[in-house]
Amino acid sequence: MKIGIISDIHSNLESFKTSLNYLKKNKIDKLIIIGDIIGYGPDPKECIELANNNADIILKGNHEEGILKNDFSRFKQYAKISLEWTAKELKEKIDEIKKWENKKEMEDIIFVHASISDIFYKYILKIKDAEEEFKIFDKKICFVGHTHIPGGFKKNIENGKIEKIMTDFSGKMELKIEKSFIYIINVGSAGLPRDGLPFLCISIYDTDKKIFKLDRIEYDIEVTLKKIIEKGLPSKICSFLKGF
Ligand SMILES: [Fe+2]
Repeated sequence: MKIGIISDIHSNLESFKTSLNYLKKNKIDKLIIIGDIIGYGPDPKECIELANNNADIILKGNHEEGILKNDFSRFKQYAKISLEWTAKELKEKIDEIKKWENKKEMEDIIFVHASISDIFYKYILKIKDAEEEFKIFDKKICFVGHTHIPGGFKKNIENGKIEKIMTDFSGKMELKIEKSFIYIINVGSAGLPRDGLPFLCISIYDTDKKIFKLDRIEYDIEVTLKKIIEKGLPSKICSFLKGF
């Protein structure tokens, strides 16, 4: 089975549509979106509709959690401004977001937005963060997003050693899942990558071949940038989209 995995779309309709086209061309069997469909970007309603119409499973991220609780105290100022705007736009869509799940287990895989220990907020950035997660880990792979930085960690189950998994210089990644390791894989962000590259992150895991592939694709970023300005959202978001 080929599972398409998307995270952190952040109301970027152009990157979301391009991601879906890529997955269609690659003939996936299932699509899972692992949170933060909304926040930051200019098209929250359209992205919710597209997610509900295309994904088999949708998880909530911290931005959905913030909207549902109407509490933005844990967000940085520009994220807060965008979420307040998003909340007004989404009055009629709240019940749809409520239906999304917090985490999903599928055979030897677990999907969650941020981490197992703190599903919405913990950033797994360092070996120490990963070590804490691996301690409470009973699956082969945990797929996460949240940091907007693709990569991950693998732990050797024989000697306990944890190594960082890096993307290549194009921000891409291809991994053969090995018997002697367990993994935390970050699929990056489709709508707002934060590794300095302005190309969306899109992933496919082939459960039969045990191969994970993360690709980077160009999309019509100019359209998104224009909408951010037109809708009065913080222009700082434009700098992130452009990769700086
Ligand atoms: Fe996010």
